[in-house]
Amino acid sequence: MRILFTGGSGKAGRHAIPYLLDQGHRVLNLDKVPLDHPGVDNRIADITNAGEVFDVMASYAGFDELEPGTGVPRFDAVVHFAAIPRLLLTADSECYRVNTLGTYNVIDAAVKFGIRKIIFASSETTYGVCFADGERKPDYLPLDENHPVVPEDSYAMSKVVNEVTARSFQRRSGFDIYGLRINNVIEPHEYEQNFPAYMADPSLRRRNFFAYIDARDLGHMVDRCLATDGLGFEIFNVSNDDHSVAATTQELAEAYYQGIPTTEMGPKETFYANAKAKRLVGYQPKHSWRMYLKE
Ligand SMILES: NC(=O)c1ccc[n+]([C@@H]2O[C@H](COP(=O)([O-])OP(=O)(O)OC[C@H]3O[C@@H](n4cnc5c(N)ncnc54)[C@H](O)[C@@H]3O)[C@@H](O)[C@H]2O)c1
Repeated sequence: MRILFTGGSGKAGRHAIPYLLDQGHRVLNLDKVPLDHPGVDNRIADITNAGEVFDVMASYAGFDELEPGTGVPRFDAVVHFAAIPRLLLTADSECYRVNTLGTYNVIDAAVKFGIRKIIFASSETTYGVCFADGERKPDYLPLDENHPVVPEDSYAMSKVVNEVTARSFQRRSGFDIYGLRINNVIEPHEYEQNFPAYMADPSLRRRNFFAYIDARDLGHMVDRCLATDGLGFEIFNVSNDDHSVAATTQELAEAYYQGIPTTEMGPKETFYANAKAKRLVGYQPKHSWRMYLKE
């Protein structure tokens, strides 16, 4: 597929894009900074500028596309990752503005160009635990996509708003628009770098429901969404199958989740349920921190 990927130079995109290239897709990366990776075309643009977003979406990806003499090809899909990726980076209002306006512009342009597959990055933070003031606990476990989303910070608010925006665009267009409630993204080098500390002190992962998502498995999830048509508007949790800590489900539940209704779970099974992604798009994560580190 010919894909416009926004925010591909960032932590998640720089692993997801190579994965998509390996599957045979062509990718044009729209970002404020380029991604230096063989086979990736870059266009510097700002998602909060609607004119720039429309321009890139109507553009050649590279010089080779001038050769056939048949005009600008259409994108088959848009993958929208560009964002201010958390609170405490910019003013709260700036984070909210960039994320909500940027997402409006990207989906609006995609729909108006007739691009019938749109995948966008939402977040685990929508559930209101990650960036809460103090400790908040989930209503039930494992935490699936039906759990209420009531965050209290501007980043997570922007992601909830983006889901509403996407749903409205889907309703009018009938296109496929899938939102990914991505858990904490882990790059390959971070297993060795960060996970020993998570083993020593699982509380470091409490705000992520003790879960994680390998950046390459996130690329695989995007690819599965590209390959799966006809779902309309859907939201998916995206996580790996196991906890990001060595403690077992029972140990974690006793220490952190007493009194919270929990259905039966395996000893290493993630609290951040990914069953819907497996069921509807054939998501099958391949990585686990246990492949890179000893417990
Ligand atoms: N990293 C995580 O753990 C995590 C977890 C859940 C959701 N997410 C979401 O996944 C997406 C990717 O996250 P990431 O960790 O790769 O973030 P990142 O900050 O590393 O990458 C985001 C990219 O977006 C670009 N960008 C920012 N503002 C832009 C603008 N106005 N116009 C064009 N490009 C702009 C940046 O230059 C950057 O390359 C984001 O939407 C983020 O909110 C990330």
